Amino acid sequence: MIGRAGKTRDGITIHQEVDYAGMHKAGALTARILDEIAEHVFPGQTTGEIDRIITDKVNEAGATSATIGYKGYQHASCISVNHVVCHGIPGDKKLKDGDILNIDVTTIVDGWYGDSSRMYVAGKLSRKCERLIQVTHDALMKGIEAVKPGNTFGDIGHAIQSYAEGNRMSVVRDFCGHGLGRVFHSPPNVLHYGRPGTGPVLEEGMFFTIEPMVNLGRPETKVLADDWTAVTRDKSLSAQFEHSVGVTSGGVEIFTLSPAGKFHPTYA
Ligand code: MF3
Ligand code: CO
Ligand code: CO
Repeated sequence: MIGRAGKTRDGITIHQEVDYAGMHKAGALTARILDEIAEHVFPGQTTGEIDRIITDKVNEAGATSATIGYKGYQHASCISVNHVVCHGIPGDKKLKDGDILNIDVTTIVDGWYGDSSRMYVAGKLSRKCERLIQVTHDALMKGIEAVKPGNTFGDIGHAIQSYAEGNRMSVVRDFCGHGLGRVFHSPPNVLHYGRPGTGPVLEEGMFFTIEPMVNLGRPETKVLADDWTAVTRDKSLSAQFEHSVGVTSGGVEIFTLSPAGKFHPTYA
């Protein structure tokens, strides 16, 4: 039984039991679209065409894209290739053999938001990229393992940071996860680094994303003149995975699990 409804003093919404079903529906649609897009990623394909296919799938499902019209953004996905950290804008550039890319989709179903992203590869995956993608995926899962009532958001960040840095990679500080539910971005900021026991305490009924960005080089980023595209300052490769999750009495529920079991690094 979830205690009080409403918000914590940190402004984090405490959702009710029925709300989990809404999040599952939205999360499942996002996950299915991310499953189905895998076959459309190949050398010679453009990120604009991938986005067009995603737009069609959102519409065919009778859902709404959360990103079209969001702060002036015009696409149903962000597609971030190689040293692009996040918020890559789909366009005419063709993918090359060996390119790695994050595809990030947020759908709205019956008013609930489903936000998830995964890594893909065009053509052949290099050993270096495979390692980056594996470590980033596993860092997200370490963060999710830290989600249970009584733990703190700092525990999540610490789990991610210590794992990534233990593998001699760096965690991006300039972007974070976020609360979501009937809104796209709400408190708290979910940092992907931190110290154990710090930050707000996790409570049943909290919904948020965890979406670590991990770089092979240094963590610093900069945003290009288009005001969206974030890249690594040192041009090193970057990877990201994102799930939408809810805190339960026993731990965590992942809303954006892949129906086809394809939420894994390489699709090999
Ligand atoms: N889906 C992104 C996130 O994980 C947000 C993208 S906002 C956009 O929070 F406008 F760039 F699409
Ligand atoms: Co997000
Ligand atoms: Co996202």
